[in-house]
Amino acid sequence: MEQKQLENLLGELSLEEKAGQLVQLMGNFYETDVEAVLTGPGKNLGLTEENIRLAGSILGTYGAKTLKKIQKNYMEQHPHHIPLLFMMDVIHGMKTIFPMPLAQAATFEPEMTEKCAAAAAKEAAASGLHVTFSPMADLVRDARWGRVMESCGEDPYVVGKFTEAQVKGFQGEEPGAPGKVCACVKHFAGYGAPVAGREYNTVELSEHTFRDFYLKGYEAGIKAGAGMVMTSFNTLNGIPASVNKKLMRDILRGELGFDGVLISDFAAIQETIAHGYSENEEKAAQNALECGVDIDMMTGVYAGNLAELVRKGVISEELLDESVLRVLELKNRLGLFENPYKDASENEEAKLLLCESHRALAREAAAKSFVLLKNEGNALPIKPKKGQKVAFIGPYVDRKAIISSWAITGDTDPCVTIQEAAKEIFDASNTVYLEGCPILDHGYAAHAFRRDDEKEYTPEEEEALLREAVAAAKEAEIVILPLGEHFLQSGEAASRAMLDLPEVQMRLLRAVSEVNHNIVTVLFSGRPLDLREVSRYSAAVLEVWFPGTEGGHAIVDVLTGRTEPTGRLPISFPYSVGQVPISYNAYATGRPDDPNGTDKFKSRYLDIPNEPLYPFGYGLGYTKFEVSPVRLDCGQLTNAARLKAIVTLKNTGARTGTETLQLYLQDVSASVVRPVKELKGFKKVTLAPGEEQEVSFEICEEMLRFLRADGTVGSEPGKFRVWIAKGSTQGAPVEFLYQER
Ligand code: BGC
Repeated sequence: MEQKQLENLLGELSLEEKAGQLVQLMGNFYETDVEAVLTGPGKNLGLTEENIRLAGSILGTYGAKTLKKIQKNYMEQHPHHIPLLFMMDVIHGMKTIFPMPLAQAATFEPEMTEKCAAAAAKEAAASGLHVTFSPMADLVRDARWGRVMESCGEDPYVVGKFTEAQVKGFQGEEPGAPGKVCACVKHFAGYGAPVAGREYNTVELSEHTFRDFYLKGYEAGIKAGAGMVMTSFNTLNGIPASVNKKLMRDILRGELGFDGVLISDFAAIQETIAHGYSENEEKAAQNALECGVDIDMMTGVYAGNLAELVRKGVISEELLDESVLRVLELKNRLGLFENPYKDASENEEAKLLLCESHRALAREAAAKSFVLLKNEGNALPIKPKKGQKVAFIGPYVDRKAIISSWAITGDTDPCVTIQEAAKEIFDASNTVYLEGCPILDHGYAAHAFRRDDEKEYTPEEEEALLREAVAAAKEAEIVILPLGEHFLQSGEAASRAMLDLPEVQMRLLRAVSEVNHNIVTVLFSGRPLDLREVSRYSAAVLEVWFPGTEGGHAIVDVLTGRTEPTGRLPISFPYSVGQVPISYNAYATGRPDDPNGTDKFKSRYLDIPNEPLYPFGYGLGYTKFEVSPVRLDCGQLTNAARLKAIVTLKNTGARTGTETLQLYLQDVSASVVRPVKELKGFKKVTLAPGEEQEVSFEICEEMLRFLRADGTVGSEPGKFRVWIAKGSTQGAPVEFLYQER
């Protein structure tokens, strides 16, 4: 449709019809036999029949047949036959589930993520969806927060790169193209920094911290062309984000130039009342619309108030029109006026969902996301041999629920378990597979778990499982122990104050370690955990996150060395929970710690080190790499000419391997203190045994910019340090000068 026609259409709409375009409801409002996935509080919204008939978009329902039916019936009854938009959280896969986002960030390979998002888009589009509520660009430094699993970690550069990759993968050149969906960058803004890691909690961020760290990910997604942005639940510096004018009007629309659709998070406009900001629903509607929040997700606040607010002259019809036009423009951009069903097709669904090529991609991505945290005595890889006695013991040995709590369109049935994959390779007569213990302690956060999904064990049954496990471990040459968080222990509304494994699993680990020292712990988790004890008792520790549909295959691939683990941590694994929030890119204090010194008056803890157990950027492989000192092509950088930093990387081990070289910079002194180091680039390099290669990074002025003391963003001349290293705590820096020309 031409823009003029859209504007004419807008002109024909009544106030109620306009307000309707700004209302989003769930699919079960339209088809009662439809299963809708509720991702927020379900309550009576007080909607009239007319409100429902006029609502402009639907969330939480998918499937070509269902959505075509809803669209057809809806459009027939709509006075102007305007099509609905169908939206859903397709976060790390539609039916083929890829590794969770934090795991994907661990690949340090945004190109891989782009491919995963593109595959997810194809499946989602065939299922009738138009928009995915993804990517989540929230930066996270606090492992207590449950949605850390859905983030890309603690570093703005990594978060930016992976946010961009997801947007590109979902949307391609244009979200209206076949097999593409519109991406929605969320949650604007600062949602990843709730006080004390508690879900939905207050967010307080200084202007510097906000702009130099937290804003970057959203900015990257918007630059990549995301058609939608979602608000966040939290307050930011005292004002709920969903009604925060500075955030939405000045920063999002003004500075970042976002002109797409802004949707509230689930009931977030209404929740500004509970925050103590909006006095009532009428005021909440006014506040949000004035901020340019276009769609109200799953409440009656817009539906019940917008038309009346215009009639009363509280808000102008132009303000309402501005939002309605943006929604119509998105429908038009997706081609829905010409083809309201877009790619919805039962045939395509049958061909694409969980197809071989998507499953192969899921297997590759999962294997690349695993991080080898410890590998004493080269416990890994295991070369399966005839007659070798291997015991797989633990609640994740044959568990299919390995797709994360944000894979709401995915199913666990198609998932490959470790046991299923191992049986394809390991000697059947000498390998045992045992559950070892329940996954959760008795009564653990009962409100958050559908207990009937988990088998309950009596204390006697638990003892029997443990006895059997210990007996098998005693006999085995090697014990593979897949342990981990329950998938519902991370995700939305899954904050934790303790970062440990359930006690019942620790008991299993301790008991097994008493009879066998050759333990390979395979760790499933949605977040960094306190792994001190796990690490102490294990010869090797492999972090596998929530790996997705092909998890079992990918794990066995890595355990047996078919694939090398090349993942690196996109987030610090703290020494203990007392360190969080923690990130490598911190500021120095005036009294930096000296771990070997005796001076008391230093910035440190009395009882734990300052350093995380496993730092950002860390991860082992199956070979060894040496990195030479950094060389510079000249000693000086200017705004007119770039500087090149070079190292020689050598594979000094016995097998081909891949290293991830990371470029870090430090601004030695500035008008505002700068982090001790900041990641500015990374490269994955694969080398054969004995092979060496020069690897270089270009450094440019743009990399040095930050929010300066005078409130402007820019760089400052002076001395800088550069590292090229295998992780955030490795390597030695060299210095260079930056001068303006
Ligand atoms: C979440 C969003 C999600 C929305 C719709 C909310 O609870 O915070 O990330 O997109 O539900 O499912």
